[in-house]
Amino acid sequence: MILRRDFLTGVAAAVAGVSWLDPLLSWAEQQSVDIPGEDGMIVRSARFLDLETPPEFFNAWITPVPHFFVRNHMGEPSTPDAESWRLNISGEVEKPLTLSLSDVQAMTVHSVSNTLECAGNGRSFHQPHVPGVQWGKGAVGNATFSGPRLRDVLQRANVKSTGKHVMFRGSDEVPGKVPPFIRSIPVEKALHDDTLIATHMNGAALTKHHGFPARALVPGWIGAASCKWLSEITVLDHEFDGNFMKPGYRMPNHPLKPGDPLNVDDSHVITALNVKSLISAPLDGAIVRSPKLQVQGAAWAGEAEVVKVEVSTDSGVTWQLAQLGHQQAKYAWRLWSYHWKAAKAGEYTLMSRATDSQGRVQPATAEWNPSGYLYNAIDRVRIRVQA
Ligand code: MTE
Repeated sequence: MILRRDFLTGVAAAVAGVSWLDPLLSWAEQQSVDIPGEDGMIVRSARFLDLETPPEFFNAWITPVPHFFVRNHMGEPSTPDAESWRLNISGEVEKPLTLSLSDVQAMTVHSVSNTLECAGNGRSFHQPHVPGVQWGKGAVGNATFSGPRLRDVLQRANVKSTGKHVMFRGSDEVPGKVPPFIRSIPVEKALHDDTLIATHMNGAALTKHHGFPARALVPGWIGAASCKWLSEITVLDHEFDGNFMKPGYRMPNHPLKPGDPLNVDDSHVITALNVKSLISAPLDGAIVRSPKLQVQGAAWAGEAEVVKVEVSTDSGVTWQLAQLGHQQAKYAWRLWSYHWKAAKAGEYTLMSRATDSQGRVQPATAEWNPSGYLYNAIDRVRIRVQA
């Protein structure tokens, strides 16, 4: 297990001449707590656990589970005993089913490497300010999820032609009158080869924070689509319209003026992720003691492919192509790097901008919306290069 302090020492040692002493980092240090198995994470909420990954952990293609963000709307259920856990499949199906964990584990396993990002990631950067968990850059991570295809389970239940949406229910501990975590996805996405009932993450059984014993994995889509602690799958003849679909997790059909309210009747449920990149090194506020350094980070695009990442070292005046890492998979982020030599000592703003196979380009300013979803503005860090 890598402790945050050891990790940082390792980075500093590996990049000769670079010092990572920066104000943001010390801020992050103050916010980090000891939650067993969740080293060095930033705690955004302790009541219902919301843990953010500090950007320096985005230097690995696969994010280790202890460094993978956690987003809980409410309480985690008490861990079910593997013997008594059941998954019910019902609704618009010919043969309603109840599966035990051993039934699920006996099915053919498929693995998907997927970048999971919370729709609210980056919310704190929206201007004007929007309410909700004030995520910085790190409500995102890339992991390999494994388990049976949802399609195989639905085929056993034999979906009727009236089945249009597949609804997931999590067994979260719901406080007071809060509506339970229920959402639905269109049947086409549910029957897609890569949509899973995941029981494993990075080769190990899901941990409690990430949905033990089984969660949906809806690749390329916002994290909210991937319901944790699955207890029920219900096939519906319509899109589910409870709280976490309406008014939650919706974008306006037409861009709003910053500050305007959402008109729910002129909005749609958010599905796939945007094109986006972030810089994992150097960190914002770093003092760099050598003019030569490697700018690096990660870029992803939901169901699309990242085709290029550009880096600017002059506040966005000129852009140069970064080199894309060799590790890649359909829904997974690409690591990228750019070797740069600063012409002289001074302060610099470094930026990264990704472009995807659908022609989408990371914008200078993200589209403002009242819940701060899908923030994807060009990433930037300010550093000082010392001669
Ligand atoms: N599933 C349940 N049952 N309850 C939740 O609160 N949060 C969703 C999704 N699945 C949530 C859930 C959201 S908003 C996100 S971003 C992802 O889980 C986060 O997954 P993670 O905590 O494994 O990173």
